[in-house]
Amino acid sequence: MSKTLIVTYTAREGSNTKKLGDYFTEINNDKTEITVLDLTETTPDLLLKENLNPLVARNFGGVPLDDKSAKLLEKNDRLTQMAIEADFIVLVTPMYNFSVPATVKAWFDAIIQKDKTFGFNTEGQMEGLLKETKALSLMTSGSDFAIEPLKNIDFAMPLINTCFGFMGVATTNIHAYGTQQYADKYDEVLANNYKKIAALSAEWYN
Ligand SMILES: Cc1cc2nc3c(=O)[nH]c(=O)nc-3n(C[C@H](O)[C@H](O)[C@H](O)COP(=O)(O)O)c2cc1C
Repeated sequence: MSKTLIVTYTAREGSNTKKLGDYFTEINNDKTEITVLDLTETTPDLLLKENLNPLVARNFGGVPLDDKSAKLLEKNDRLTQMAIEADFIVLVTPMYNFSVPATVKAWFDAIIQKDKTFGFNTEGQMEGLLKETKALSLMTSGSDFAIEPLKNIDFAMPLINTCFGFMGVATTNIHAYGTQQYADKYDEVLANNYKKIAALSAEWYN
């Protein structure tokens, strides 16, 4: 059976984004082995002085780490391993300030690691190492970023697709824009996106 990792940041009570993630789980939990990584509970460590320097020394300098430094990288390494082991990754996140919440960016910062999720080929060019993995992003936002005038300032979708793409992962986006802009008909927006989730699920788990 395939393995699916659901990486979720839905901190708000009554979260609309959580509805998309819950629907995905509801229709697929008997078709794939699902593991949930709740970033509000297991929050990636930010890259600060203490852990960034050992990370660079190990990943780029090949320096073996002492126990103390290895321990500082343990959590982010565990999150990386979870991503490596997944056949499918579903990222469930709202838009915050035109991009993803910092906690979600911290997850990408944790798992984009040299020789684990990306590397260099024989010509010295960078290449993603998770070429067999597929990703889906499920996002909601208050306004509609699929149309002008906001279309060009959705930095969430390019960030998500570039970070996954850098690791070799092809991504599908199902983004239910407009929780505030279309408040009076948001149930319809959600229903439309449930259909897209069902269609992709049929492709993934056929
Ligand atoms: C801190 C914060 C920042 C937000 N930034 C944006 C934004 O840049 N653009 C937007 O359209 N909506 C923004 N919103 C609204 C949320 O994206 C929207 O309400 C979304 O549906 C929230 O998802 P949730 O229901 O899962 O919490 C923001 C909300 C919060 C709490």
